[in-house]
Amino acid sequence: MYVCSCFGITEDQVRRHADGGACTPRQIASACKAGTDCGGCVRRIQALLGRGECPRRDLVEGRTAPAGAPAGAPVTLGGTPGAGLSDAA
Ligand code: FES
Repeated sequence: MYVCSCFGITEDQVRRHADGGACTPRQIASACKAGTDCGGCVRRIQALLGRGECPRRDLVEGRTAPAGAPAGAPVTLGGTPGAGLSDAA
């Protein structure tokens, strides 16, 4: 069944891209253009992607805390916590 009629992309194609590592509608769009014209299929693509396991999505959404960090602690991506630009001048 077609998910994206603008580009003729099927559910199977979306699932294959998801199995290949695409976790978000944007990544699906990068892989096959689905969702990049009228956008009418984006919600359906999101539904197909669901809430399955996706390590990259966990990283993007900050769900993975560094080892040893207390549960619920904010995740710092790179740099030293507390080191601001005001110290650099
Ligand atoms: S139906 Fe997918 S971009 Fe239009």
